[in-house]
Amino acid sequence: MNLEEQIYIRKSCRKYGDEEIDMNQIHEFMSQVKPLKDGTDYHYEILTLDDVNNLARFSAPYYLALYVDKKENYMDIGFIFQQLCLYLQSIGIGSCWVGMASPKKKSSDFVISIAFGKSNDLTRPRNKFKRKSLSEISDAEDEMLIPAQLAPSSINSQPWYFKHSDNGFDVYKAKQNIIKRQFMKKWNSIDVGIALAHMYVANENSFEFNKKANFEDVKGHTYVGSIRI
Ligand SMILES: Cc1cc2nc3c(=O)[nH]c(=O)nc-3n(C[C@H](O)[C@H](O)[C@H](O)COP(=O)(O)O)c2cc1C
Repeated sequence: MNLEEQIYIRKSCRKYGDEEIDMNQIHEFMSQVKPLKDGTDYHYEILTLDDVNNLARFSAPYYLALYVDKKENYMDIGFIFQQLCLYLQSIGIGSCWVGMASPKKKSSDFVISIAFGKSNDLTRPRNKFKRKSLSEISDAEDEMLIPAQLAPSSINSQPWYFKHSDNGFDVYKAKQNIIKRQFMKKWNSIDVGIALAHMYVANENSFEFNKKANFEDVKGHTYVGSIRI
């Protein structure tokens, strides 16, 4: 199982078959998933389409409903569950984060869903990724950032920015205008967590995340933490 190679061929899957899936594969993967930091209280539920209010333009046989204790931990949700998405792809199961699908059973700690199911439409060549350039997402173009560059994000907003620091990068999230802020704020925290998951998977042995007390401001952005890779 090589998760890193999935980063360079992945795509959001929107065409699913209805074959059954052994959900133990998911539970086993989740029992050893890497958290971004200790102490985040989260859980997930596996639902079928019947259990979901789905406003997205496509549907899937299964949905993961994700729950977390605090809004400050949305980034952790992106970090944790993007690892699962890469794993699912490595075993022939497609997935797509969906902001527009939620469980019929309401719960105040619900964050977001991930649609998933067996698929044979899982991958694409590298030249089909539509992404910002490396120099747009960093203070200096750096190929170390390709895994983050290729990460999925809500409406492909790619709200991440990386500033070189002594031994890695300081990481920032783009501030949205007042109209987009209401919903993008939640999704953009998840997006940055997803990009950090790609940085972790590509640098599994050396990756560290921490928050500095002193960091430089970047105009139009909020500091979210620093990584060593
Ligand atoms: C937090 C989040 C929410 C998303 N919500 C939706 C959605 O509601 N409907 C949809 O079709 N795609 C959704 N997507 C998928 C993005 O549109 C997709 O990741 C982006 O366009 C980049 O394409 P790619 O994933 O194929 O690389 C979402 C992605 C993320 C990360």
